[in-house]
This record gives sequence, C-alpha cells and structure tokens, in this order.
Amino acid sequence: MTTPDATASGTIAPEELRSHQWYGTDGLRSFSHRARTRQLGYLPEEHLGKPVIAILNTWSDINPCHVHLRERAQAVKRGVWQAGGFPLEFPVSTLSETFQKPTPMLYRNLLAMETEELLRSYPVDGAVLMGGCDKTTPALLMGAASVDLPTVFLPAGPMLPGHWRNVVLGSGTDMWKYWDDRRAGLIGDCELAELENGLARSPGHCMTMGTASTLTAAAEVLGVTVPGASSIPAVDSGHERMAAETGRRVVDLVWRGLTLSKILTPAAYEDAVATVLALGGSTNAVIHLIAMAGRSGITLTLDDFDRVARTVPVLANLRPGGAYLMEDFHFAGGLPGFLSRLTDVLHLDRPTVAHDTLREQLDGALVHNDDVIRPRDNPLADEGGVAVLHGNLCPDGAVIKHIAAEPRLLRHTGPAVVFDDYRQLQNTINDPALALTPDHVLVLRGAGPKGGPGMPEYGMLPIPDYLLKQGVRDMVRLSDARMSGTSYGACVLHIAPESYVGGPLALVRTGDLITLDVEARSLHLHVDDEELTSRRADWTPPPARYGRGYGALYQDQITQADTGCDFAFLSRPGDVPDPYVS
Ligand code: FES
Ligand code: MG
Repeated sequence: MTTPDATASGTIAPEELRSHQWYGTDGLRSFSHRARTRQLGYLPEEHLGKPVIAILNTWSDINPCHVHLRERAQAVKRGVWQAGGFPLEFPVSTLSETFQKPTPMLYRNLLAMETEELLRSYPVDGAVLMGGCDKTTPALLMGAASVDLPTVFLPAGPMLPGHWRNVVLGSGTDMWKYWDDRRAGLIGDCELAELENGLARSPGHCMTMGTASTLTAAAEVLGVTVPGASSIPAVDSGHERMAAETGRRVVDLVWRGLTLSKILTPAAYEDAVATVLALGGSTNAVIHLIAMAGRSGITLTLDDFDRVARTVPVLANLRPGGAYLMEDFHFAGGLPGFLSRLTDVLHLDRPTVAHDTLREQLDGALVHNDDVIRPRDNPLADEGGVAVLHGNLCPDGAVIKHIAAEPRLLRHTGPAVVFDDYRQLQNTINDPALALTPDHVLVLRGAGPKGGPGMPEYGMLPIPDYLLKQGVRDMVRLSDARMSGTSYGACVLHIAPESYVGGPLALVRTGDLITLDVEARSLHLHVDDEELTSRRADWTPPPARYGRGYGALYQDQITQADTGCDFAFLSRPGDVPDPYVS
C-alpha cells in the first residue's frame, strides 16, 4: 500500500484520519466499507490511508451558472489524486437563482443542512465546495463551517461579458434596464429576442458585481479559495487549472489539520465585510455574511457593516454601481490586486488555505488598470457601498445600496403608496388612478423572511410605465424584501422586523409621509406613537403560509434579516456527536 508522505507535510498520521474509523479498524463495519469500496471499483492501494476528499457539486441541468461544474469536478479529482488523496464527488442541491421559485433563498438553509449532514455522516477527511450562483456560496460554507473539516471553496467563475449590437451587457443589470426600455416603448420584440441571445452567453455566474461575484470574492478574502480564484472566468482554461490546484490544496490541508475554523476567524469576517463594501457589492452579502459568521460562532451585526462602511471607499468600478464587468476586473488584477489597495484595513497576519498569512498571499499582487480597480485617491465613492438605516419604521435596521441610487433621492420626504403584497403591486402599479408622482414613496410589505416567504428579490419595485415614459428611472422604494445584487435604485431593503410578524412596516398607510435620509442613516415614518399604537391594536397577523412540509419548518425556524435568516436550530450553539462514536 502506498501512503503519502504525511509526516513531511504536516501533523496528521494516516491512522488519525477521520475516514480511518470507517476503513482502518479491525471490525465487521470496516470490512464491509472496504468491500463496498471494491464494489466502487477501487483497489486498497488506491484509497487506504489517503485523505478522503468529498467534492460537493451543485451542478445540474437547470443551473446555467454551474453547467460547467460537472466537467470541472474532473479537474478537482485530478488534483486530489496528484496530491495523494481519494476524491469522491457528491451531487448536492442546485440553487438556480434564475429558475427556482419563490426564491432560492428559501432553500439556502436546506443546502446548508445537506452540506453539513453529508460531510458529517460519510467518511470524509476534507471537502471541496463547488458553488457560485448567489445562495450556493453561503449555503455551502455555512454547512461546512458547522462540521469544521479542512475545506476549500471552488468558485464557479463569472460568465463572459454579454454583447448586443456592439453594446457590452451585464447579466441581470441590463435585463432590468432593457425590460424597462421595452415598457417605455423604446425597444420592441425584435430587439428583445436579440437580447435573449446576448445577455448571458456562456456558462458561469452573473458577471456583474452582483450577489454571486460578491460572495465568491468574500470566500476568497476569507481565505478559503485558491488565491485569485474568484474572478477567473468560468470558461477560461485558468479555471480548470485552479480547480486542479484546489484539489491538491485540500489534501495538504488535511495532513496539516487546518480546519475551517482556523481560517474563518473574526478577523477574516471583518476583512470580508470591508472587502464586500469596497467592492460596492450586493446587499445580499449583509444577510449571508451574518449567517456565515454565526455558523463560525461569531456575532456579526448590521452596525458592524455600517461602521466598516464609513472607513472604506468603493474602489471597484463594476456594474451595477460602476462601469465594468468581472472579466475586466480579472485582467485588472482580480481580488489579489484589489486587496493590495486595502492592506491598511485588512488583517494581514491571519492564515488562508494557501499561505500562512494573508500578507504572504498578497505579496506581489498588482493592479493593471486604475480605472477598473481605482486607487485610493480616486475612489468610485468615498464610503462603502451599503448604508444601514435605523428609525421608527425599521427598529432592527434596514439597508440601502446608496451608490446605486440617484443622489437626489438620498434625502427625500414623500407620501407613501402601500402595497400589501407583490401580486397586488403587479396588478395595480400601472393603474393611473394611483396618480403616482416621482416624489411618492413606494412601499411593499409581505415580502420578508416569513412573509415572502424567503425574502424574494422584489425590493427593486417597478416604476409605473407612465412615469418611465416621462423619463423617471428611480424613486424611493421600501420593503422587507431583498434585491438582486444586479439591481439598482433608491431601494430600502431588509426592513426588520418584517411586516408579517408585525413590524412597523405593517402599520404604514397610503398617504403617510416618510423621510429617507441616508447621510443621517435614518428612515422615519411621520406618524406619532399614539396613532401607531392604535393601528397596532387593529392589526391582525396574517395566516400561516404553509400547513406542512419544508415551508412549515422554514416558517417556524427562520430568523429575521438582521440576524442572517438562518434557522434558529442551526444557528444556536450546541454539540453534535460524531456519527462514529455516538
Ligand atoms: Fe446565477 Fe446570477 S443567476 S449568479
Ligand atoms: Mg442575483
């Protein structure tokens, strides 16, 4: 039997591998596990004494962002074999942002549970997590953090830039833009059909700085990817090389006993917050990073985001807040180049999966295009891209991506027009009887974690057609929903507590005056406490949305946006016995 030179690279002996409990003991069960591995087609010398690496793959035929991952898993396996490990690929839930309804956010915690329980219940020594489309990154890392094995995340990589009639298109962002153009009568069906071909023209996740790119960048700065991995285009040959390196890396981590908790430290999460804000990243990252940190036993709050936002400028000139796309970012130096301009705010002495320190990892990182990755003296915005609001409408907070809003709206008072749910909004928004003006404040409720359910990305409420035709492209909009990372506008999101559980949003009435003041970080409903108390007395909670099934579990267990929307039973501290010793 050949075993890797364990002692040369680390501290773990083959008998100390977790999988040894399944394979190496002198008992009936080990005999059975070895026999069944012969059934899988492997000789003893191919796997005994080697780290078993689970490759969790979110590939599926319905997920265009991950359609290349089935093939890419082969490169990961190549790397695992090369380093003397034993790779086993596990298909896991695919969360396709585009297709899954009401929203893949409803299923983020389900994938996190699946990740955790698969890694725990099988003979796994280390893991490679393959994801990228929005919720897959936090889901996989949340589950893996709860198990705490040596783990490397493999980002799916952004798709190629979109093109249409010599215009460069950003997936998501330009979908919203051109749909509005169609509603305004500026383009017709013919143009729309051409746009269908050009918006998303290769495998890979959205190539704007939307939720996918934000979260994969967060994974890289946390230190759980191969350096530079997150911006490599999905179809670039470099992505395949990175996949093989990911396989080699995780085997090394196993021998060194470098588990996820040694990497996912408070300093790492603080750096992820700073990076996401300096990227002008998605508001969804606020919820996901809070939930991920929670699984690492670290309390991250909305106020942490606001505090850090005031200390970092936005340096990434990427859509939807800026001009460029992820491929440009990659060739401008990618995340290592970007981070080289933030070294004063980063914790450089913490370890990553690739280096003893982040400092070492960033050594030699360069920026090759100062317009894509801005220097500190020429930022896209002076402060981080997300502001946290407080006030009587959002006692537990709300967020706004102010860099993607029209500046004139960042301090605005206007009368509310209230929609009780998204269907009502869709059915009535174009009704001239509402007589909406650009000064109105559109308010949507019933779209939060329980009420949505799953906080669908309804937060960029549509502007009525008749205002679009007058050239109005932004209005103040409020909701307890989320917003796509590729969206834009003066949209106040994640209002907590949500209306469904009786947050003040439930008490707003059409005609009430509302003031948004981003500089003061405030959102205020001009209705006095006495009147609000009397409205509350008249309020009745909506009926439960689910009588049974996963939705009922979700409804019972989901926490509010300000604490990350994890399940209460998953995010609380507590011991879980090892399956082999219980
Ligand atoms: Fe998958 Fe945008 S749809 S990342
Ligand atoms: Mg999205």
